[in-house]
Amino acid sequence: MRIIEVNSYEDLSRKAAAIIAAQVIGKPDSVLGLATGSTPIGTYRYLTEWYKKGDLDFEKVRSVNLDEYAGLGGDNDQSYRYFMNHNLFNHINIHMENTNVPNGRAEDLQAEGSRYDALIAALGGIDLQLLGIGHNGHIGFNEPCDEFVVGTHVVDLGESTINANARFFAAAEDVPRQAITMGIGAIMQAKKVLLIANGPDKKEIVEKAVFGPVTPKVPASVLRLHPDCTVICCFQKA
Ligand code: F6R
Repeated sequence: MRIIEVNSYEDLSRKAAAIIAAQVIGKPDSVLGLATGSTPIGTYRYLTEWYKKGDLDFEKVRSVNLDEYAGLGGDNDQSYRYFMNHNLFNHINIHMENTNVPNGRAEDLQAEGSRYDALIAALGGIDLQLLGIGHNGHIGFNEPCDEFVVGTHVVDLGESTINANARFFAAAEDVPRQAITMGIGAIMQAKKVLLIANGPDKKEIVEKAVFGPVTPKVPASVLRLHPDCTVICCFQKA
């Protein structure tokens, strides 16, 4: 595991974008695993900027997002599909049909999980998976639990996740209580993993994940077993 500590969110975002850019330049038909949340917004801004300058081409890129809230469709501005379209996909030349987000409105979410895993396998797996980290150590929506869950699955969101995500909703009651998330299997099988963490409030959990025991109680700790994982963190106040 490589750990890169930087002093500003801008620096974190530029370095993360540079790693993703290098992946796309080296393999134009890369399968990118993408994340939502506050942390990757700056990274997506740099990727957009470099695309607009002509330095990056997403024509052949395929993408698979980590997760989606149960019950939200892509037209809902709180959905992760909406987030991805607005923060990245609408601004670059990726083909929309090559972008994938779990369908939170699928009638049978378990079946949707199996479909999503089959899709990732059909794409040949993930070349580079971008991750954020929750205050409880979650990656995707793999919440702390008793064992790592391998496949894409439905999760009940923990109190800490609901509270953290309430900032995006009118009220905490509006945060969906369930989500569908890629499991630890597809994340660990990604050829490269890039985890980004920003803010003083992420310091404690990043240290636990990076230096503590590998345990499903801190889902991100599993990344220590990954052969090619980079962590970029900034613990400064904004
Ligand atoms: C988002 C995701 C989550 C976030 C995490 C950190 O797709 O899977 O694991 O990465 O909750 O969120 P932020 O970046 O908002 O602190």
